[in-house]
Amino acid sequence: MTKPLRAAVIGVGSMGANHARVYARMPQTTLVAIADLDPALRERVSRTYKARPYSDYHEMIEKEALDVVTIALPTHLHQRAAKDAMAAGIHTFVEKPMADSVAAAQDMIAASHEHGVLLGVGHIERFNPAVIALKERLDAGQLGQIYQIHARRIGPFPPRVKDVGVVFDLATHELNIMEYLTGAGIRTIAAQVKQTLHDSHEDMVSSILRFDDGVVGMMDINWLTPTKIRELSVLGERGMFLVNYLTQELWFYENRSAQDHWLGLVTVGVTEGAVTKYEIPRVEPLRAELETFVEAIRQGYNGLVNGEEGLRAVFLAEQVLRASRERQIVSLPPYTPVPARYDNHGGKRAL
Ligand SMILES: NC(=O)c1ccc[n+]([C@@H]2O[C@H](COP(=O)([O-])OP(=O)(O)OC[C@H]3O[C@@H](n4cnc5c(N)ncnc54)[C@H](O)[C@@H]3O)[C@@H](O)[C@H]2O)c1
Repeated sequence: MTKPLRAAVIGVGSMGANHARVYARMPQTTLVAIADLDPALRERVSRTYKARPYSDYHEMIEKEALDVVTIALPTHLHQRAAKDAMAAGIHTFVEKPMADSVAAAQDMIAASHEHGVLLGVGHIERFNPAVIALKERLDAGQLGQIYQIHARRIGPFPPRVKDVGVVFDLATHELNIMEYLTGAGIRTIAAQVKQTLHDSHEDMVSSILRFDDGVVGMMDINWLTPTKIRELSVLGERGMFLVNYLTQELWFYENRSAQDHWLGLVTVGVTEGAVTKYEIPRVEPLRAELETFVEAIRQGYNGLVNGEEGLRAVFLAEQVLRASRERQIVSLPPYTPVPARYDNHGGKRAL
């Protein structure tokens, strides 16, 4: 067996601590060190996973001969830390959103090319088995023509997120997933944002999108709802799929009036049909995501969500904010999303 990769995490707050756990448990990696400014967190995570603690990540990079590092710092710090790690020749995985601006994301991609290292971005829902199963079913034509894709990502206010609003923090998940599922680029964006509790950024966004192939997208996202809901539905000729991201469930509500015809699918109306809940083996998306990153380092395996895709989500987030700010529908140039790969969780197919 090849030697495990030497891994570390910069920023072991709520997300970074999970990266530390996964690196510590994956046979492909050894968690050798972690860095955080917070002494209590540093102590706890380093003791739990037997990794050397550092307050200064520069010192960690210098001393630990790392192969791979996760950056799970607040978003506005991703660019600096990722560039420092990549300049030291370390394959770098950055939590999403990749950066707080398009310019910063482009700068990070340039650094990964310059130093010949991989840059992965933590669009974790791409490794949610319910999303992967949905993508396979859409591509197999189970829904016929797609009409609409609708995401709800709502929940309570997280006081720790100070540097970005819901558009960068949460809508980037859905923007990435929607282009992945439809296989079409977003061409127009209308949006309204609202700032209620957050000191400096929006904490609610409602947005209507139109994709290249005519599909309509809707995003309903906020930090103002006293219960956590993460759902996505895809409506089409033959019915509606519903994904619950949190429980990793996929449902199908059949339109009983959609019939196969020798000339093709014919919709003669809409009536309630069978409701199916698919059996989907649960996986930990973060583990699948980091396994994919390690495989990409070792074998050039390309199920990875890379810097270009991370940049695309950041670009779209900027355009959502622009649409709201300018009170205009924003039109975007054509874009072809990265083609789907289904076997991106440990080689197991979801269907
Ligand atoms: N993929 C997902 O679903 C998901 C979920 C949560 C958070 N995130 C992303 O992860 C990133 C971190 O978010 P979080 O919720 O874990 O934040 P957090 O505030 O809980 O953790 C950030 C940590 O970074 C540390 N830190 C700050 N500056 C530092 C520095 N210069 N050197 C070392 N440590 C430093 C802080 O002490 C803190 O422990 C954000 O970009 C966020 O968007 C992604």
